[in-house]
Amino acid sequence: MKILVTGGAGYIESHTVIELQKAGHEPIILDNLYNASEKVISRIEAITGKRPAFYNTDIRDREGLCKVFDEEKPDAVIHFAGLKAVGESVKKPWEYYDNNITGTLTLVDVMRQHGCKNMIFSSSATVYGDPAFVPITEECPKGTCTNPYGWTKSMLEQILTDVQYADKEWNVILLRYFNPIGAHKSGTMGENPNGIPNNLMPYITQVAVGKLKELHVYGNDYDTPDGTGVRDYIHVVDLAKGHVCALKKLAPGSGLNIYNLGTGHGYSVLDIVKNFEAANGIKIPYVIDPRREGDIATCYCSAAKADKELGWKAQYDIRDMCEDSWRWQKNNPNGYDD
Ligand code: NAD
Ligand code: UFG
Repeated sequence: MKILVTGGAGYIESHTVIELQKAGHEPIILDNLYNASEKVISRIEAITGKRPAFYNTDIRDREGLCKVFDEEKPDAVIHFAGLKAVGESVKKPWEYYDNNITGTLTLVDVMRQHGCKNMIFSSSATVYGDPAFVPITEECPKGTCTNPYGWTKSMLEQILTDVQYADKEWNVILLRYFNPIGAHKSGTMGENPNGIPNNLMPYITQVAVGKLKELHVYGNDYDTPDGTGVRDYIHVVDLAKGHVCALKKLAPGSGLNIYNLGTGHGYSVLDIVKNFEAANGIKIPYVIDPRREGDIATCYCSAAKADKELGWKAQYDIRDMCEDSWRWQKNNPNGYDD
């Protein structure tokens, strides 16, 4: 199938493009390069031997999108493109709602005009808020988001649900990702955050490479086994493969489906530090700071539905995630800026 991958040069996206190519699909990358480097395209080609088509286009640019749909005639869209920094979204709510909501509304309109009504959407565990129960199943009620970024995901889930309800020609899959970490085994592709990382693993790898002095652990007084926050970390390549499995489900008449993509295991911040140290033989100095505003204690999923209905299950363990994150950082201390 020909698949338009919005945000295709980004972290999860670039790994997904590789898995799509490996599965025999033809991914087309569309990205405005706001948070990505064009060098990713050559790195993908070096791994798979196939250079994906690339359009430097913004999802809010209706004319640009129409040109891509006219030229490429994709069968389906995997819609990743969006702004994703939680803290930044609190400071720039308008930019987040404009980019993520206006962008998706424009994309959906152009898709239906071109008769392409198959979409996989990147949602997030953030829509569960402070979850009503763990492990989180897809039946867990959505919760109150603590920031504009989270609200864009929650609202977009509702918008896509309503669009699909009104027009049954649409087939929509909402994938709720848990915490993606890790990198491609080649060590040539990985996460490339701008400035000081917000997320745990890139912060740890930047401490390991000597760019940052020590890790700040946000709170050790949560109601968890060691007091630090517990999350469901998933290898980015496993997450990428989840999209390939989901495509098979995106058949005519499949309607609207929702899946959690996680491993089902919860690891605390200190578990991650210990596993990183053991996997890579590097000490990670840390200090305990107060809790970070908006954080919750525990978030991990049941991925049983994805296993049963998509035939997908995460394969990589925490050691792989720690080794691969470090290989990428070590080989590319400045990300794609070398
Ligand atoms: P990323 O920033 O690496 O990728 C997003 C890509 O979208 C970037 O390449 C960026 O340049 C592009 N983009 C942003 N706005 C655009 C626009 N208006 N037009 C075209 N391209 C645009 O982020 P990621 O971690 O790979 O996340 C991918 C998706 O998964 C996002 O929707 C994110 O919200 C979602 N998600 C991520 C996580 C996570 O922890 N990384 C967790 C849950 C959900
Ligand atoms: N943490 C630290 N120090 C840091 C960074 C994080 O102690 O420097 C802790 C956090 O307090 C939390 C855990 O590490 O307990 C994970 O934090 P991340 O920022 O890596 O991830 P979050 O779970 O807060 O959020 C991430 C993405 C969201 C996404 C969510 C899905 O940032 O966009 O996963 O579960 F919605």
